[in-house]
Parts: sequence; structure tokens; C-alpha cells
Amino acid sequence: VTLRETIAAAAAQLAAAGVETPRLDAELLLLDVLGRDRGWLLGHRDDALSDEDRRRFDAHLHRRARREPVSRIIGEREFWSLPFRLAPDVLDPRPDTETLVEAVLKALDGGARPLRVLDLGTGSGCILLALLSELPAATGIGVDISIDAARVARDNARRLGLDDRARFVVSSWGAALAGRFDLVVSNPPYIASAEIGTLAPEVARFEPLRALDGGNDGLDAYRAIAAQAQELLAPQGRIAVEIGAGQGAEVTALFAAAGLDALARHRDLADIERVLVFRPAAQKSP
Ligand SMILES: C[S@@+](CC[C@H](N)C(=O)[O-])C[C@H]1O[C@@H](n2cnc3c(N)ncnc32)[C@H](O)[C@@H]1O
Repeated sequence: VTLRETIAAAAAQLAAAGVETPRLDAELLLLDVLGRDRGWLLGHRDDALSDEDRRRFDAHLHRRARREPVSRIIGEREFWSLPFRLAPDVLDPRPDTETLVEAVLKALDGGARPLRVLDLGTGSGCILLALLSELPAATGIGVDISIDAARVARDNARRLGLDDRARFVVSSWGAALAGRFDLVVSNPPYIASAEIGTLAPEVARFEPLRALDGGNDGLDAYRAIAAQAQELLAPQGRIAVEIGAGQGAEVTALFAAAGLDALARHRDLADIERVLVFRPAAQKSP
């Protein structure tokens, strides 16, 4: 059986299971088994699949048909063009979150200053490590309440050669931290608890609940972070948070009540308001 035939049959099976991008997913899973990239496949569609690879591919396919995301099956996701390892307790990084990285880089006047960065709810470490990869003089701390997430983030830092500038701490938001940061970033859990069951199976069944659940109205994490922001920020510091669709006004009000002024809002590729940037209200001068 050729790779072409294998992909066609697998794509039909995934489509029947309700997978949105069946052909692409079938190709990615097969390429993971073969240890090849998509460019290679162009010239090898008529190659035969060995029995051993067939068995491994069938196991991948079975998991995907049960709606486990491709990134979880292959254990890796690209974010900001960098590879990140995943684990069950770690959110699969989203392209939307790259908006946060872009917004922060835009808010900075160049990357030469030795900035201190804090990432609250670091998960895979993707936001902090993407920023450190762009800001060669910066150092950072990634915090997560999950020990497994902190371990995976540390491992990702080591694989990316950024471990000399990144540390990871297990803490509920900033509770275990001392000192102030030039930049605080966060993509906290922001789904209202009752909505989680209505999300696609890939999210509802396979993402860690702690990474999704924002409490009754989805805003619990913003309340906790806003309450700590003044103590975590340096005098000229900035805090940038990712938000869920339609949460902009409420999150802005929560931060305003905690003494933080909105500086900028950014939309994601789907034109949804996705990132808010704040600064301590005391900095009224130029
Ligand atoms: C939406 S995920 C974001 C992960 C990663 N920063 C990203 O953008 O892909 C939220 C993260 O916050 C963490 N988290 C939830 N509650 C927390 C708390 N009280 N303190 C610290 N981290 C928390 C979760 O474990 C999860 O890793």
C-alpha cells in the first residue's frame, strides 16, 4: 500500500469521525511516524508503507479519530516558529497567543535593555521563551500552579538554549515571588466554567481543565492577577494579558479598579480583540 493510498483512507476515516482538517491531519501523523517533513512527502507519495510503520500510524489514527489533537499525539507544537514539547498538564499553545508576543514586542522600545519578564500561567513556557528569543538581554520567570507544566516549560527552555535566562516557579500567580518586573505577561484561563463542555472535543476533553476554567464568569484569573499587578510591576512596568472574545470591557474595568490604565488593545488574525496592555495609573507623566 502506498503513502498516497494510506493518506486517502486515513483522511476518510478522520472525516467520518468529525475531524475538521482530515487530510492535513492524516499527513502530519504519517510524517511523524516516518520522521519526515511535508516537503519530503511531495516526492514520495508512491512509496510503500512498511508493516511496522503501518502499526504505528494506526495507533496515531485511532487517537485522532477519538479527537485527540495532532499536537498532543506527536507531543510537540510550533509557536513563534519555535518547537515546544507538550504534556497532558500543559495547554497546547494557540496561534492567537502569538498576538500577545507581538503586542509586547511592539510596546517595547527595542530589545537592548535587560528587562525582567514575568509570565503568569506559563504552561509550556511558550510566551516567555518566545519573548526571550527576541530580547537577548532579557531574563524571565515563568510561574504555573502545575508542577508538570513548570517541568515541561523548564525542559523547553533547555531545548531552546534559553535556560540561562529563564527560571520556572510553582506558585499561584505571583504569591511566591519577590521583586518587581518590567514586563508581566499572562494568558490565564478565561473560559466560563459552564461553557467548557460546549467546546470542541479536542479542547474540552484533552486540554487541562486548569488551563481553561476561568470560574463562573470566566474572569476569576483576571481578578487575582489585577489584585497583584501593582506589587509585581516596576514603576515604568507594563502588563499585557490575553483575553477571551468579548471580555475587553470587563477586564479593562477590573484592571482600572486595581489602579491600572489601559495603554493598548490588539486584535488577533480573526479580528477579535485578544490582548490588552496596561500600566500603573500613577505614571501619568509623558
Ligand atoms: C490558558 S493556559 C496558558 C498557558 C501558556 N501560557 C500558553 O499561552 O499557551 C493558563 C495556565 O495558567 C495556569 N494556572 C491556572 N491557575 C493558576 C494559578 N492560580 N496560578 C498560576 N498558574 C495558574 C494553568 O496551569 C495553565 O498552564
